[in-house]
Amino acid sequence: MTDNQTLTITDNRTQQSYTIPIYRGTVRALDLRQIKTGPDDFGLMTYDPAFMNTASCQSAITYLDGDKGILRYRGYPIEQLAEQCSFLEVAYLLLNGELPTANQLEYWQCKVMRHTMTHENVKKFMDGFHYDAHPMGILISTVAALSTFYPEAKNINDPKSRDKQIVRLIGKIPTLAAYAYRHRLGLPYIAPDPELGYTKNYMNMLWKRTEPKYAANPVLARALEVLFILHADHEQNCSTSTMRAVGSSHADPFVTAAAAIAALSGPLHGGANEEVLRMLGEIGSNDNIPGFIQQVKDGKRKLMGFGHRVYKNYDPRARIIKKVAEEVFEVTGRNPKIDIALALEKIALSDEYFIKRKLYPNVDFYSGIIYQAMGFTPDQFTVLFGIPRTVGWLAQWQEMLQDPDTKIARPRQVYSGEEVRDFVPIAERGVKQLVHA
Ligand code: SDX
Repeated sequence: MTDNQTLTITDNRTQQSYTIPIYRGTVRALDLRQIKTGPDDFGLMTYDPAFMNTASCQSAITYLDGDKGILRYRGYPIEQLAEQCSFLEVAYLLLNGELPTANQLEYWQCKVMRHTMTHENVKKFMDGFHYDAHPMGILISTVAALSTFYPEAKNINDPKSRDKQIVRLIGKIPTLAAYAYRHRLGLPYIAPDPELGYTKNYMNMLWKRTEPKYAANPVLARALEVLFILHADHEQNCSTSTMRAVGSSHADPFVTAAAAIAALSGPLHGGANEEVLRMLGEIGSNDNIPGFIQQVKDGKRKLMGFGHRVYKNYDPRARIIKKVAEEVFEVTGRNPKIDIALALEKIALSDEYFIKRKLYPNVDFYSGIIYQAMGFTPDQFTVLFGIPRTVGWLAQWQEMLQDPDTKIARPRQVYSGEEVRDFVPIAERGVKQLVHA
């Protein structure tokens, strides 16, 4: 292979040749615009719905290798971070690029825990929802509402303001999530207890009853920390791309994060963990697995929690989550759904349909089984994804704003509609067969 990092393209329409630079394994789409058939030709664009083969940005935060099943945050393998770190330690790493010293971590933890309270009006807003409102709908709405309490968040070009809003949102998202959980159960809201630390405080706001001080089970608290670490960032996934796109219009970080939470709520993305539990419940027993697999192969169902746009090998997070599950079950008792999930995985991974399509368990396949064992209802599962992913969204948002390449996201299109035509007065209109009446 030569070091000649260029691509030479011949346009067979004109016999013209063009040489364009190759930049880190990509070509700049704008370099194709010069390829024209004549002066009136707009020039070539790329067509890539769902961005299957398009890099939307440069990022130094997370590295994935889909074929090797590698995930690293700022160069550190996820397996080491999940084993050795606290969640706020990883949050600091994602946001700042380096692991914190002991003093930096202590200061960072204090800063975040000082921002766990919300304005009392948030509770009134929360009370307005039906008792059975889906917590993701509540979270999207209340995170967006935070922008009305902190109008200075609109100063997105001021690093001090950005830092303040980042700490505010990381501190408050567990509080909003816990309030949504308590609202669902008709229980009084529990005030944050900063002394407990990030994850134990979240558990405190969820599960404290009448005891003077909540004491989290250390095994469950550590399991939640690990799950938070595994869900913290994942490069340019759907919700992060949404965070970058909305943030590129210079909207404030609260409404931008609300848009990301909305994207995460979809069943093909973060909503999959809830769908997995529904699917396992529907399958009900190992005897029904072959019939369900056949429905999937007939294209009638998706195997939720399986497949990934990037991972064409085992999702490294799923491997770690399987281990965490066993530790949690030591405390909570075994969730029988894990046995159906393990049997389903075993059968799927030996079936040509899944092997050919490189479909493996992803992060959502086992996480819900743990959450259910811990006492969460399935509609809370995606909230548990959104809490830690808020850190990744904010790290990517911050990186996007600091990137000189960043402009407002505004893709082009391939127009496939009618050519120009004159207006038809209503009296002369016939009944044209509409595609979607
Ligand atoms: C997350 O991007 C990220 O990083 C996301 C995430 C993160 O941390 O942010 O990792 C979190 O969203 C994980 C994914 C959770 N979603 C699910 O588990 C839902 C089920 N999975 C699928 O919907 C699907 O696998 C996606 C959405 C995850 C990926 O879809 P792609 O990349 O667009 O793949 P595709 O739909 O083009 O599928 C390729 C083939 C198709 O078959 P053919 O048309 O070639 O015959 O594989 C089939 C699909 O039908 N396929 C599945 C399947 N996933 C893909 N068939 C059955 N069950 C599935 N789950």
